[in-house]
Amino acid sequence: MKKMTSNEIRKMWIDYFTQHGHKYVESASLIPVNDNSLLWINAGVTPLKKFFDGSVVPESSRLVNIQKCIRTNDIENVGVTKRHLTFFEMMGNFSIGDYFKDEAIEFAYELLTSKDWFAIPLEKLYVTIYTHDDEAYKKWVEVGLKEDHLIRLDGNFWEIGEGPCGPDSEIFYDRGEKYDPNHDALEKLKQDEEQERYVEIWNNVFSQYNSKPGVPREKYQELPHKNIDTGAGLERWSMIFQDVPSIFETDLLAPIIRKIEEMSGILYNDQTSFK
Ligand code: GLY
Repeated sequence: MKKMTSNEIRKMWIDYFTQHGHKYVESASLIPVNDNSLLWINAGVTPLKKFFDGSVVPESSRLVNIQKCIRTNDIENVGVTKRHLTFFEMMGNFSIGDYFKDEAIEFAYELLTSKDWFAIPLEKLYVTIYTHDDEAYKKWVEVGLKEDHLIRLDGNFWEIGEGPCGPDSEIFYDRGEKYDPNHDALEKLKQDEEQERYVEIWNNVFSQYNSKPGVPREKYQELPHKNIDTGAGLERWSMIFQDVPSIFETDLLAPIIRKIEEMSGILYNDQTSFK
């Protein structure tokens, strides 16, 4: 595996998608503008909702961003797992009525595995798809993913509050046996349960519906066009490309911990300091 800093990861993400016709959009403020449906920007797609629902026409139908996010529904997991944060940066590529599922999967496959890009060995990747999504299944097999690395899950339908939503395909990186002491991580992944071996690094949402509070999923309206909305956590990518056990030890967060150690005189991981 390549060793990469968080800045190198950011740059490679933006370079890949701009070279594939996407316009770079700066991160929006964490405080939503003209959107009373939420308190914080919680995903890369949130400030772009106006393009997805057709109320505003974007300058380009392909966008790439790295969005600052606060995801309050992750907070219970912060400090419990090695990969959840209150504040994080989400890398994303978006199609607004332009390409859909096939091209999104091709982009994900190429960017992750090509020697010119992130060069992750394909056998390190596992992918989940929505139970009924045969198109996504077929496409992942076509690009070369082994069928025993493809998992169908009922939970793979992405929605977070009001707005664009749809079936999704989550990509996981296998961190290996040392994160799987009970040898049950794959079974847990298949059951959609917490484990630390297979880390979700990228979610591709095949966004075609508009969710509304109080409306059951099967009654959601179709959006004016089919879209792609993706989210890839920069801190998790940094954890993998820096080969550290948790997001807290990446070049994004370790310097803050070092400074707190210096100011407090208490060492991170040194539990005896708390006695
Ligand atoms: N919008 C895709 C995600 O947050 O996972």
